[in-house]
Amino acid sequence: MSELPQPIPLRSQEWFGKRGKDGFIYRAWMKNQGIPAHQFNNKPVIGICNTWSELTPCNAHFRELAQSVREGIIEAGGFPLEFPVMSLGESMMKPTAMLYRNLASMDTEESIRANPLDGVVILAGCDKTTPSTVMGACSVDIPTIVVSGGPMLTGMQRGQPISISDVWRLSERVKTGEVSTDEMEEAEACTCRSRGHCAVMGTASTMACMVEALGLTLPGNAAIPAADSRRKVLAHYSGMRIVGMVRENLLLSDLLTRQAFENAIRINTAIGGSTNFVIHLLAIAGRIGVDLRLDEFDDLARDIPLIVNLQPSGQYYMEDFFYAGGLPVVINQLLPRLHGGCRTANGLTIAENYGEVAKHPTDVITPVDNPVKAEGGLAVLTGNLCANGAVIKPSAASPHLLTHRGQAVVFETIEDYKVRINDPDLAVTETSVLVLKNVGPVGYPGMPEVGNMGLPEKLLRAGVTDMVRISDGRMSGTAFGTVVLHVSPEAAVGGTLALVETGDWIELDVPGRTLTLLVDEAELDHRRQQWQPLPLHMNRGYWHLYQTHVQQAHLGADLDFLRGHSGSIITRESH
Ligand code: FES
Ligand code: MG
Repeated sequence: MSELPQPIPLRSQEWFGKRGKDGFIYRAWMKNQGIPAHQFNNKPVIGICNTWSELTPCNAHFRELAQSVREGIIEAGGFPLEFPVMSLGESMMKPTAMLYRNLASMDTEESIRANPLDGVVILAGCDKTTPSTVMGACSVDIPTIVVSGGPMLTGMQRGQPISISDVWRLSERVKTGEVSTDEMEEAEACTCRSRGHCAVMGTASTMACMVEALGLTLPGNAAIPAADSRRKVLAHYSGMRIVGMVRENLLLSDLLTRQAFENAIRINTAIGGSTNFVIHLLAIAGRIGVDLRLDEFDDLARDIPLIVNLQPSGQYYMEDFFYAGGLPVVINQLLPRLHGGCRTANGLTIAENYGEVAKHPTDVITPVDNPVKAEGGLAVLTGNLCANGAVIKPSAASPHLLTHRGQAVVFETIEDYKVRINDPDLAVTETSVLVLKNVGPVGYPGMPEVGNMGLPEKLLRAGVTDMVRISDGRMSGTAFGTVVLHVSPEAAVGGTLALVETGDWIELDVPGRTLTLLVDEAELDHRRQQWQPLPLHMNRGYWHLYQTHVQQAHLGADLDFLRGHSGSIITRESH
């Protein structure tokens, strides 16, 4: 007869289970919240890590969502304690929310480790709030489950669906006079008509899919709209489940195996996920200690077609994706190409969770053998212009530009671009290649979403809708175009990108996965010797820490000293 399993000692008892002065302090100051004594008696203490903020509009409904989590935790016999961490509002933060992803991850990591927590429920939604909190949690590695905030309902303007992806088109049409500024202003309220994050397969939705694909959520997490009451039900169930995860000691490192990352890459390709996925997944892998390289994204993705017809790669919206069955249908269809044995937060494997799902007959999710596009979401390029790699999203690009040779029109900084791009005398044609420098991690700083730089007005008026663009920055997951991003090494640290001059010939060959500056080595050496770095923007504070420690895009743009994990143990008392 097998022995009964021994209960796992609770980490929180190192605080609340203590006798004497220390235990007194840990309990007494909690009791001021009206918490009865029995709550401290060997109950799993569950932190609700809340990225709520009115400055992060996508996450502004999270106090309500936290209430559902709390009720689930209590129902399962846990003791919930909600805490805030730095919240990153993609729409608000200057110079870019990405600059602060690593800072927010430090906040999350230290908040979890320093406190009497046995498990954590992460509430995340807007783009950076998901990777930052997951990165931080990985560096502690206690049982953790993620609840995403959910997308907005599909926007509606004058009877037509509208989304954030239309903002890029609208702003170009205002420039050409096709759309009035009044209509543009009306679109603001129409686009964002409900709670939730961006309603297309932008970065926030991509991150919600990523955490589900990695096994960090309950099945079905990715697509339930924020305004749908089933989002609260999922939060409640997640609260219940984390208590079980603590009792089973199911750690992040048990879920986040190398195979789970491979699954996430394949699933991201099938959904046409944001290019930002690459950077965030690399950073998460770096924290949990899984060896993952940029070029592997391409290898793992190559045989995976795009089977989700959502903007910006396709036609529909996250709400439609939910009604079509959401990510479970995608995972179900990909199962033969996934590692079905990967465990997930509910204790079951991917194959067990997604082996049988309800499919609805729509064209939002297509069969694998009749895909939206044969080529999936992402290509990784190399060549002398990007020695450590660059990425492009072919599904959001113009097919005729995927193989292209053109002459560079170079902008040294974003300010240089803004001053000159609409100059009627700018020597630029539709075959030119727009090159933007100094928008990488160190250069901007923070690697903003400016890589999909707008086209010159005179070309827009002539009917040009796309051009090859190259930069060391990122682009919004809601954006589209033939845009080469994440060039590494970046210009600010002296990458070849820094040496490009207007008039140089550049060759983009996406099928061949190369990006080449057609300038000979001797000339490049000469330019390299002349090159001077631009001065950094600040010499103190977090910006300084960031600029002196951030790694390049191909490594995930984490701070070098944050890679890896320190575990969950602290032995020294505070008094
Ligand atoms: Fe928050 Fe798009 S601005 S998800
Ligand atoms: Mg974004």
